[in-house]
Amino acid sequence: MTPILHLESARLTLRQWHDDDLREFAAMCADPQVMRYFPAPLTRLEAAALIGRIRGHFNEYGFGLWALERKDSGAFIGMTGLLHVNFDAPFGPAVEIGWRLARRHWGLGFASEAAWTCLRCAFAQLRLDEVVSFTSQSNLPSQKVMQAIGMLHDPDGSFEHPRLPPGHPLRPHVLYRINRAHWQQTLRG
Ligand SMILES: CC(C)(COP(=O)(O)OP(=O)(O)OC[C@H]1O[C@@H](n2cnc3c(N)ncnc32)[C@H](O)[C@@H]1OP(=O)(O)O)[C@@H](O)C(=O)NCCC(=O)NCCS
Repeated sequence: MTPILHLESARLTLRQWHDDDLREFAAMCADPQVMRYFPAPLTRLEAAALIGRIRGHFNEYGFGLWALERKDSGAFIGMTGLLHVNFDAPFGPAVEIGWRLARRHWGLGFASEAAWTCLRCAFAQLRLDEVVSFTSQSNLPSQKVMQAIGMLHDPDGSFEHPRLPPGHPLRPHVLYRINRAHWQQTLRG
């Protein structure tokens, strides 16, 4: 399958990673507010390693977490994309959709806009049957994005994230799902 290196929405370019994205990406991943639903903010080295893993996912599967660039300013604002769930999940194997944006670009609808574009790619180009998303129970901003793009909460899908220790406050996770038929319905309004 031809790798999907580039997508577009009205206000955003979803593109491959440039070496000079690291400065902004590392700053975003070092922001405790951005990372409050993750175990810890990332060091610059960890952020660089994450970009490496994202590139590796594109190389292996032809899709991944795209870097987001605003068309109006050319600014790098974060990432949104599709990736194979990489832990032994009760709902796996599955492809998940995820997002992380720098704080100054929150509240403008960019996460939802990029996520819509990725869902279209998942169903229309990659021909996937289903996409999932999950986050800690307390991450309501992320759940709002899931709801905004038509994903449905699966109440039976809640799980304890195996990468976090028992008792960790972020360990309980909620699961959202969307399948092709439901996505087509959301398009029809
Ligand atoms: C999760 C996250 C990406 C959401 O960002 P966001 O800016 O709140 O999300 P959106 O871009 O979809 O914006 C939605 C808000 O913008 C508003 N908005 C403004 N203009 C809009 C537009 N043109 N279209 C859609 N929404 C718009 C919406 O009304 C919505 O407001 P609401 O949340 O009060 O309903 C962001 O909080 C983040 O990066 N968090 C840290 C990383 C993280 O937790 N990632 C998920 C891990 S699982």
